[in-house]
Amino acid sequence: MNRNIKIVTGNALHSHFSKNWEKMIDPEAKKNKMLKWNEADLKKAISDSNSVLALVGEEAVGFVCLILRQKYVEICALIVTPEHRKRGIGMALMEKAISLAKEEHSDKSIILFSNEISSRMCEKFGFVIADKKSLNIETWKACDVCPEHKNFPDCRCQPMMLVPTINIKQRHPAKPEGN
Ligand SMILES: CC(C)(COP(=O)(O)OP(=O)(O)OC[C@H]1O[C@@H](n2cnc3c(N)ncnc32)[C@H](O)[C@@H]1OP(=O)(O)O)[C@@H](O)C(=O)NCCC(=O)NCCS
Repeated sequence: MNRNIKIVTGNALHSHFSKNWEKMIDPEAKKNKMLKWNEADLKKAISDSNSVLALVGEEAVGFVCLILRQKYVEICALIVTPEHRKRGIGMALMEKAISLAKEEHSDKSIILFSNEISSRMCEKFGFVIADKKSLNIETWKACDVCPEHKNFPDCRCQPMMLVPTINIKQRHPAKPEGN
């Protein structure tokens, strides 16, 4: 990835990018590649430090955010501007989003509702395919706005899950010898 590109956690100082991202996401949502987002929700995700941005100077060229669900942390709204794609920015955004999710919510699984491209990216990070019917109803709330919602579970997007690793030593400490 180009050294001029910085991957940063979003904060209130970046919230003005929300308007751009709404516009950028819109055509991808129309192509059914991702869910539509409104500016207010994007602004909140950025201000609450629940997002990761790829910056080139003053320009934001990539975005992803985290939503805390009851059972999962969801990685969503992953997007790179068309002219910056296929240069590793998507993977860098994912890597940072995963580490943020693990830092803040180490007990929760991470979930991403993937399309053809993002499912390949997820595989590289060790995500595995999750059975749609095994996910709780809360997980599907955001999908109400999806044009394919009526076809569930035969809709196009595929949930991919990264389950937290359990430290076996911590959970079952070895008994001291002689006991
Ligand atoms: C998905 C997206 C964010 C990827 O961003 P990117 O910066 O191009 O991704 P990267 O350059 O880091 O590529 C990561 C991997 O994705 C896959 N990939 C990327 N673009 C691809 C394409 N057009 N076709 C097939 N695979 C592709 C490759 O496996 C690639 O890894 P490799 O280079 O080691 O083979 C970008 O294509 C995008 O914004 N798409 C529109 C929105 C979208 O679909 N978001 C996902 C919603 S779930």
